Formats: sequence, C-alpha cells, structure tokens
Amino acid sequence: MLMIKSNLPIILIGFMGSGKTTIGQEFAQLNDLTFVDLDRYIVETMNLSIPEIFERYGEKEFRKIELKSLKEVIKKYDIIATGGGIVESERSLNYLNSINHPIIWIDAPFDTLYTRIKNDKNRPNAFGQNYNTVKNLYFKRYSRYNEIAFIKLSSNIPFDRTLNELNQFINADDQY
Ligand code: S3P
Repeated sequence: MLMIKSNLPIILIGFMGSGKTTIGQEFAQLNDLTFVDLDRYIVETMNLSIPEIFERYGEKEFRKIELKSLKEVIKKYDIIATGGGIVESERSLNYLNSINHPIIWIDAPFDTLYTRIKNDKNRPNAFGQNYNTVKNLYFKRYSRYNEIAFIKLSSNIPFDRTLNELNQFINADDQY
C-alpha cells in the first residue's frame, strides 16, 4: 500500500467510545506509521490520570493542556487520536481548522457510544453522568465534528470495513 506522506499526520476525532484509538493504532500498524493517543500523551507528560487532571485543574485548564499537547504531537507522530472533547475549545477548533491535514471523524450511534463509555472511570464527562446529559453533549459536539472533518467513518460496522474505508480514503487522495 502506498501511503502518501504529505497526508501525514492524520487526525482522528469523534466522541468518547467511537474507537479513535483502536482504529488509529491498527491503521498505523498496518501502514508502518507512528501513532499517539493524545490523552495518553497528556497522562504521561503530566504524570496524572485524566480524572486527576480534571479534579485538580478543572476542565477549562485541561482544554488548554490538550491544545498545547496537540501542537507538540503534531510534529512528531503520523496518526493522532484526539480526545472527544477537543472540539469544546474554540482555540483547538480554530487550530484544527487551520492545519492542512486530513481530519477523520469516527462515529457510531449514540446508544452504542453510551454503552461503551458509561462505566469508564477514566472518562469524567461520561462516568456517573446520566443518559440525557451525555446525549446532549454528543449532539452539541456533533456539528463541530461535522464542521472540521473531511470524512466520517462509522465504527459500528465490522472493524475491518472501517479500516478499509480509512485506507481507501487516505491512499486515494493526494490533494493535501
Ligand atoms: C473527553 C474525552 C476523553 C478525554 C477526557 C475528556 C471528553 O477522550 O479527553 O476524558 O470531554 O469527551 P476520549 O474521547 O478518548 O475518551
């Protein structure tokens, strides 16, 4: 498979539980590319868990750390899985809009996402939150994902098909 290097880095966006990390990791491995999960990068550089960062500094500060970290990883990695809330920050949105790299939105029906994330202690914006609260968050973000993404891929289909679609999109397009 011929990977067009000028496409890189490729940025994956989408709600919590959409599968950005799983798909990104697998895609990177298949194409011999480097991968980073932005949350994991933040956890490692700050030496604190995501819930600890939320608790200690608040979500607003987390969004600033997130953007700073995004700017760092963008120079170092080929495939980047962002956190689902990156579109909450106007500055991150503007930044993502300004970089000329493919932004891929991974999505699934809300109920599927909710089932995947509702019991995850590592996700303060989902854990212990009721269905409607998280659903409202999803729809609030939906239009933002839509606004900045080049394409939307569903992760509610067999994994291989999602990967295949991503491969086709990336390798067929050389306009970046
Ligand atoms: C968040 C999503 C998380 C993580 C943090 C906040 C959100 O990333 O950045 O818990 O507000 O949607 P994932 O999308 O990888 O779960």
